[in-house]
Amino acid sequence: MFVSAVCFLQASGTALPKDAGLEVKVEETLSRMTLDEKIGQMTELSIDVLGSWKNNEFFLDPEKLHEAIAIYKVGSILNAPGGPTAQTPEKWEQLISQIQDISMKEIGIPCIYGLDQNHGTTYTLGGVLFPQNINVGASFNPEIARQSAEITAYETRSANCPWTYSPTVDLTRDPRWSRVWENFGEDPLVNAVMGANQIIGFQGDDPNQIGPYKVATSVKHYLGYGAPRTGKDRTPAYISTSDLREKFFEPFRACIEAGALTVMVNSGSINGRPVHANNELLTKWLKEDLNWDGMIVTDWADINNLYTRECVAADKKEAIEMAINAGIDMSMEPYDLKFCTLLKELVNEGRVTMERIDDATRRILRLKYRLGLFENPNTFKKDYPEFASAKHENIALKSAEESIVLLKNRNDILPLKKGMKILVTGPNANSMRCLNGGWSYSWQGHLTDRFASKYNTIYEAVCDKFGKENIVLEQGVTYLPEGAYYQENDPKIDKAVAAAGDADIVLACIGENSYCETPGNLSDLVLSVNQRNLVKALANTGKPVILIINGGRPRIINDIEPLADGIVNVLLPGNFGGDALANILAGDTNPSARMPYTYPKNQAELTTYDYRVSEEMDKMEGAYDYDAVVSVQWPFGYGLSYTTFKYDNFKCAQTEFDANDNLIFTVDVTNIGNKAGKEVVMLFSRDMVASLTPENRRLRGFQKVELQPGETKTVTLTIKAGDLAFVDSDGKWILEKGDFRMQAGTEILNIKCNETYKWNTPNK
Ligand code: BGC
Repeated sequence: MFVSAVCFLQASGTALPKDAGLEVKVEETLSRMTLDEKIGQMTELSIDVLGSWKNNEFFLDPEKLHEAIAIYKVGSILNAPGGPTAQTPEKWEQLISQIQDISMKEIGIPCIYGLDQNHGTTYTLGGVLFPQNINVGASFNPEIARQSAEITAYETRSANCPWTYSPTVDLTRDPRWSRVWENFGEDPLVNAVMGANQIIGFQGDDPNQIGPYKVATSVKHYLGYGAPRTGKDRTPAYISTSDLREKFFEPFRACIEAGALTVMVNSGSINGRPVHANNELLTKWLKEDLNWDGMIVTDWADINNLYTRECVAADKKEAIEMAINAGIDMSMEPYDLKFCTLLKELVNEGRVTMERIDDATRRILRLKYRLGLFENPNTFKKDYPEFASAKHENIALKSAEESIVLLKNRNDILPLKKGMKILVTGPNANSMRCLNGGWSYSWQGHLTDRFASKYNTIYEAVCDKFGKENIVLEQGVTYLPEGAYYQENDPKIDKAVAAAGDADIVLACIGENSYCETPGNLSDLVLSVNQRNLVKALANTGKPVILIINGGRPRIINDIEPLADGIVNVLLPGNFGGDALANILAGDTNPSARMPYTYPKNQAELTTYDYRVSEEMDKMEGAYDYDAVVSVQWPFGYGLSYTTFKYDNFKCAQTEFDANDNLIFTVDVTNIGNKAGKEVVMLFSRDMVASLTPENRRLRGFQKVELQPGETKTVTLTIKAGDLAFVDSDGKWILEKGDFRMQAGTEILNIKCNETYKWNTPNK
């Protein structure tokens, strides 16, 4: 079962179904807890502070463990030790069992351990790493989101960890941001559908019974993290009431409706108010409006940041008061225990009520009961024979294949003919680090080549596919091994140019090295000058150039794009990305991915596909020639195939509708080429006249279909009329009377709404 891409965002006022028996246990446990124990449950520490290193191995220190768990009653621990760095499943089993033993003995409540298993088993050595979420978005295939999460859950649990800080559904609204690649792209519907499918993959269908092969999720980072005004990580966002509810909130709502058990909060602020101190967003929108009984955890040290960075509190105590009263249930401290002492003072002084403490504790206990941790605090590697199995790896390969976007194919230069001599060049040509990006074995992903040497880089995969004797590797530009993402060695472009002499074709692998969060900030979105010079010099040789773009966000390449005959954007395809690309280059796989974000052409023209119509307009007549232009390199939804699809007979079952109608669209899609292929059928809408300037277009549904040569399929996309509504400036959903232009492929039709309807509830 997976949540389809249509008819999805309509349900409202959802609550996880309560399990009466489980609630009795929660109340019974709560009733025998002291204030210290409750506050301890609300505290989360980093494992680093609980141990030390001996001969390159991390060990928990019994005294530190005793202080944290027996004395302070800490209920949650997170992260991998050492920077952080991935550990073997056996090591995890040992570390987490030790924590569970003391937790059960001293407080009778299991600990909940959390890890960022963000595109597979980030922190479990030997586990499968899938394409990053930006690729999952590009695949437009919700099944990939679900399956990869399901496998990640299994492999995470085999290392005794029951909780992942995934999925990330922030929306990628600014291409400069260093976390673009952690999301499913810029569109709310794609983030909602993929996020919800990951929730089901990670947790299963019943959030009350997570079971030993599943993990709890933490949807992040609530809310508005993906639109920092400066483009830099953890800096303020300024978001209109309409956009906040209509675009940023929808993916979170979809994930909650799919059963998400926890939510992690955005480190930054929206319209001046840090989200960690925003009662309306945390308590009203999430817990009350959605009737959600899950648990809210801070991001890293973010209660501290309320006074150290955001300056909305005078000191730590005031910061704790603000955050807990805003609705935070658990504080990812992560380094010390002052939170416990200060929160207890706040309760004793009446500044935080016992009701709020009980509410937070109840949510944490409920999570632990739902995970079955009271009965089975540990899971064991021996019970997970499918860990990193060939089946799991094959799904990672197929996911990578479906997530690579073909952007240019002048004169059908691709697929490459067998027997061609290929020069493989560029800094991304021979690196597992580049293929995986951040959250891969380490936070920054900088150690990947140490741990992933058994997988194929692009160069290795191309050698396997086309014969080593036909391939020359001369990179011309290289990154500093294990360095910061922007560090390049002195270029050796002449050597690459010389090597091009013997080649029939040049495969220039360009882009970015890995990074994560703030260390990934940038001040120039243009691709590095060395890399652009490399491509220019190689194009000058007259040999045809294929660009392979590999990186976490779109770097501007408008000066070298015209020099390339073919362009393939692999984004961050994971450990099987090299093989997947080679299959596409050889024509063994037909590319079927689409751009999950708008690829900008110029530094000063950054936009998303759903801009308001007046952002692009022709010259006005008269003395003042006002105009506006949005020029993009590749639009959202763009992507080529080795075959051609034709659209016909686009219809809507009714041409006029009311607010509560279902709208059923059908379109015939035919593969008129001679290769089998998959097509992403997208349904776009445009509100022709609206009381807020309407958007250029919005994606309302999508479905990926596979077609053999000559085959036609009728694709049905059903939406609710309410899906065409927008959020007014007063924060309420409204559907306005009038015409809507609908589009599927090349086909367009108009439908008409007969009534204006405003929803009185916060969600439709
Ligand atoms: C990141 C989160 C992550 C957390 C725990 C933070 O720095 O923003 O995405 O889940 O660390 O590792």
